Amino acid sequence: RLSSTKELLLNAERGGYAVGAFNVYNMEGAEAVVAAAEEENSPAILQIHPSALKQGGIPLVACCVSAAEQANVPITVHFDHGTSKQELVEALDLGFDSLMVDGSHLSLKDNITYTKYISLLAHSKYMLVEAELGRLSGTEDDLTVEDYEARLTDVNQAEEFIDETGIDALAVCIGNVHGKYPASGPNLRLVLLKDLHALSSKKGVFLVLHGASGLSEELIKRGVTKFNVNTEVRKAYMNSLSNPKQDLVHVMASAKEAMKAVVAEKMRLFGSSGKA
Ligand code: G3H
Ligand code: 13P
Ligand code: ZN
Ligand code: NA
Repeated sequence: RLSSTKELLLNAERGGYAVGAFNVYNMEGAEAVVAAAEEENSPAILQIHPSALKQGGIPLVACCVSAAEQANVPITVHFDHGTSKQELVEALDLGFDSLMVDGSHLSLKDNITYTKYISLLAHSKYMLVEAELGRLSGTEDDLTVEDYEARLTDVNQAEEFIDETGIDALAVCIGNVHGKYPASGPNLRLVLLKDLHALSSKKGVFLVLHGASGLSEELIKRGVTKFNVNTEVRKAYMNSLSNPKQDLVHVMASAKEAMKAVVAEKMRLFGSSGKA
């Protein structure tokens, strides 16, 4: 059934688990996440990145909403990483239940102005608003230690950011990255996460972690209620396409199976299996 992101995250917070938000790009992706959720009896968030929306358009959102409506577990549809006013304003009317305002490329002051503007509009439509403070690195970024540290979320700034913008969920940067982690594993600042969790609890906002491909379950116990997963699902999709001689329908079915297996594994890791 089509649910609300707020309800899913509130249940996760009370139940001590996290909900996976999986980036989907087409019908097979949406169906793979829903099929995994049904098999695991888990809630799930289908999220669409602007690049996916540009490609799939309104039919992609409609496909996700329809897949959610037909599911026998709670599913929501979320707009991921809105980096411009225009794309976020457009996203307000497409059927999403929640959205992410990504002003992490801006100064604190401009990020506040931008996030607050969208937050007011989205709240008038009863949508949940997630926003990011700090700046998430990509594995490809070759940063100096100083640059890297400068991108972590600052607790004092986070308090001001939450107060000024009225957001519902805060995406934090504690050393998590989009894409793959180095072979040595993620270098996460758990003390910083603890402080950010204390702040988010005090302020009544949910804690979100992006770049969850490659992250472990210990973070759930530290207050994270939404994990974003993209890379591992995409990789499963791409790897499944390696035998081009197969019939198209079989290629699509095996892509769906490959994605479903990754998503189900994440649901067990996040503790959301059995919680629908
Ligand atoms: O809308 C936000 C929720 O009320 C979050 O509550 O303080 O328990 O994280 P929390
Ligand atoms: P990964 O690609 O590391 O899974 O990150 C996903 C993400 O944060 C999407 O917003
Ligand atoms: Zn992200
Ligand atoms: Na990652």
